[in-house]
Amino acid sequence: MAVDWVRRAREAVAGKYGPILPHVEAVVAHAGDLATHYPQADREVVVVAAWLHDLARVEGEADGHATRGAELAREFLAAAGYPPARANLVAWAILHHTDPVYGPERGELPLEARILYDADKMDRVRGYYLAELLVTVGTRVAGEGGHWLAHLPSARELYVGLFESLYTERAREAVQADYEACLDFLDRVTLATGRREGR
Ligand SMILES: [Fe+2]
Repeated sequence: MAVDWVRRAREAVAGKYGPILPHVEAVVAHAGDLATHYPQADREVVVVAAWLHDLARVEGEADGHATRGAELAREFLAAAGYPPARANLVAWAILHHTDPVYGPERGELPLEARILYDADKMDRVRGYYLAELLVTVGTRVAGEGGHWLAHLPSARELYVGLFESLYTERAREAVQADYEACLDFLDRVTLATGRREGR
């Protein structure tokens, strides 16, 4: 009987993700949807990668967790006897799930890696990232005695950049309405602030 690798991956991470489990489950769901939409992608690779992609974050590695996560996935999959070519693709996807690739190499990134990146970012585009930016900027600026409103344009730029970093049309379509609502919110705040300060 064929090995159910998705189940093996899910079981391997059971109990490990703690508070980030809802994020990982959402990424698995988004990755599955995207793989359905792009049948040329290796669905098993995509979903296995989604289950394993944030293992290094559990180890407390916020920075560089993609590199370490790719190593952990490689170790687990090698020990479990997963076919090496597919294990490579899983590791490759995890390695590229945090930072988008630009330039000539962008077009060369395997579809499975694009899907994992997009799946990881979809909920961030839906508003999480914007809220995080505002809180982070507000906290930092308050410590420096400045005013966070002055940083709205750069927060907007970062937020737009995140949306534009998405690789697949399907992911963009899925988050479009929330993205536009968030931009509208930012623009209303900026407009209201301009009026207030113009008085
Ligand atoms: Fe993630």
